[in-house]
Amino acid sequence: MIKVSNLTKEFMQGQEATQVLKGVDFTIKEGEFVAIMGPSGSGKSTLLQLLGGLDVPTAGEIEIDGKPLHQMKEKERTIFRRQKLGFVFQNYQLLPTLTVEENVAFPLHADGKWTSEHSQAVNDLIDSVGLKGLNRKRVNLLSGGQQQRVAIARALVHNPTVLLADEPTGNLDRAKAEEILALLSTFHRKDKQTVVMVTHDIFAAGFADRIILFRDGVIDQVISREDRDYAKYLANFLA
Ligand SMILES: Nc1ncnc2c1ncn2[C@@H]1O[C@H](COP(=O)(O)OP(=O)(O)O)[C@@H](O)[C@H]1O
Ligand SMILES: [Mg+2]
Repeated sequence: MIKVSNLTKEFMQGQEATQVLKGVDFTIKEGEFVAIMGPSGSGKSTLLQLLGGLDVPTAGEIEIDGKPLHQMKEKERTIFRRQKLGFVFQNYQLLPTLTVEENVAFPLHADGKWTSEHSQAVNDLIDSVGLKGLNRKRVNLLSGGQQQRVAIARALVHNPTVLLADEPTGNLDRAKAEEILALLSTFHRKDKQTVVMVTHDIFAAGFADRIILFRDGVIDQVISREDRDYAKYLANFLA
């Protein structure tokens, strides 16, 4: 579903180029739930921005659902993003003065896809993320956990091929984080959603089928749940 080859990203800081991603290779299968872990500054968010077509690589290739993202012009990339990808961020990034249902329906409006028939689907989705009855509530009146539920519904409303989440539980306490992860996990299993989640929380990563560990812009280790040394690897990584 996702194929990344020799992915490289440099940022200019003054006259100097800093390499944030230094030739990254991996593939993610359809329906897989992958966690990207690594220390702060190791390039995790940069990677997710590139996978989401929100920024362009300096070199290398990104294929999503068979389409070469790295070759697309900006407009094409925007359309691809709107149709195929869903995003969840640490700080929710909702439209604060709009209601729950307006936020959830927003991607359909942005894409010119909205018809009144979508109303029911939006309502059902709001119910299924656990916000029944809150459709008309302004999102800035909701708790953090509730706002992240709105963000998840919004990310899924157009039934994306891939869901990208950057520290989705980073602002939540453990109990709320657990609820959000359970929710992501439920959609992942139910809809065979491919999920790529950046996290520095080992507890969150435990929901994934596979963990890709980053260090200084390269992949340090890849750990699958089936690996015999799964626990040991993680302990080493966290040491
Ligand atoms: N737009 C940018 N311009 C310059 N440097 C950037 C930019 N975005 C990220 N960086 C740098 O790239 C490095 C990796 O950042 P990031 O991908 O956000 O790391 P992580 O998400 O793993 O904490 C950091 O040193 C950061 O300062
Ligand atoms: Mg980050």
